[in-house]
Amino acid sequence: MPRILVTGGCGFIGSEFIRQLRREDPSREVINLDLLSYAGNLENLAGLDEDEGYRFVRGDIADADLVRGLFAEGIDEVAHFAAESHVDRSLLGPEVFARTNVEGTLVLLQAAREAWGEGRGRFLMVSTDEVYGSLGETGRFREDTPLDPSSPYSASKAAADLFCQAFHRSWGFPVMVTRCSNNYGPFQFPEKLIPLMIQRASRDQSLPVYGDGMNVRDWIHVEDHCRALRLVLEKGEAGRVYNVGADQEMANLEIVRLILERLGKGGELIEFVADRPGHDRRYAMDSERIRGELGWKPERDFAAGLAETVDWYLENRGWWERIISGEYRRFYERLYGGS
Ligand code: NAD
Ligand code: DAU
Repeated sequence: MPRILVTGGCGFIGSEFIRQLRREDPSREVINLDLLSYAGNLENLAGLDEDEGYRFVRGDIADADLVRGLFAEGIDEVAHFAAESHVDRSLLGPEVFARTNVEGTLVLLQAAREAWGEGRGRFLMVSTDEVYGSLGETGRFREDTPLDPSSPYSASKAAADLFCQAFHRSWGFPVMVTRCSNNYGPFQFPEKLIPLMIQRASRDQSLPVYGDGMNVRDWIHVEDHCRALRLVLEKGEAGRVYNVGADQEMANLEIVRLILERLGKGGELIEFVADRPGHDRRYAMDSERIRGELGWKPERDFAAGLAETVDWYLENRGWWERIISGEYRRFYERLYGGS
């Protein structure tokens, strides 16, 4: 049975990827290596504990001995999600971003190269559109747009992305890199724009909009992103970069208004606050390559997907309340001894 190592599978996107894999392609055995950082949540994969084709390993991708040990068991593919993923946190403390996103990726690449030798394996690097930096009013990011990261987060992702490409150029290492735009959907950690605004608005708390609220992001449903990732893992060309996007640009303020509308609340909760330092103005993706070469296209309509997402957070209040109250962290401290 082919075995895939998924890193960061207890996070927002990694958990959706594992759910899809187990549902659509149960012939693969999944090992989920996740540190359970503040953003990792075992609840995101509730129900898989009994699944014989799934195994959870708690650990750090930057722990070379642990990672080599997993490869020694036989790994055929890697889908690498594990990362520190929040821009605002990277502005407060960039060090862990270098450790996890750069060193951790390098540890995985080295271990995979040692284990696979020539001609074996598939490694999917989940990079981000933030490596391209910011756009002005017009234009879209293409795969050949020069990398120009603005934040410590995006700098660390760009470094990891370039290490992957260097491994391919130097040794023909079988890695595909994807760069996707902003994801939304269920199980997103409530520090990110959409879940943050939903949970705060639902409790009538103020909604902190950075700057003038006119920064633009290009939104994609997490299910569409994960379908793209599975396709690239299966059919992507080694050494190639694939942009992933759903052509759904929207200003932050507009998103906040749509959320308020769905909740039946008014704009008085909106509070304009100091801008994020180095705040990228606009992202927009050209994803013609993955559409043309691999036949992928997004399936989820944004308006319907956002409404469904708002409803999911309302129906799963306990999920985010346990995060905000710290209850889930206290549980891990009991389970794993508090490291
Ligand atoms: P997330 O923060 O929700 O999840 C990250 C996961 O990685 C968590 O489960 C966490 O416990 C784990 N992790 C952190 N440090 C680790 C370490 N040292 N070792 C092992 N596991 C560790 O992030 P997400 O939003 O699901 O993003 C997943 C990946 O997708 C990231 O690489 C991110 O850069 C990329 N990405 C995210 C978006 C987006 O919109 N969220 C868009 C494009 C790309
Ligand atoms: O583009 C892909 C990236 O999208 C991923 O690589 C990152 O991991 C992911 O976190 C996301 O980065 P952003 O910085 O775009 O996402 P965030 O949800 O933090 O912010 C979205 C926009 O909303 C951004 O312009 C900042 C703004 N914002 C965010 C927060 C948390 C606010 O105005 N107020 C807020 O409180």
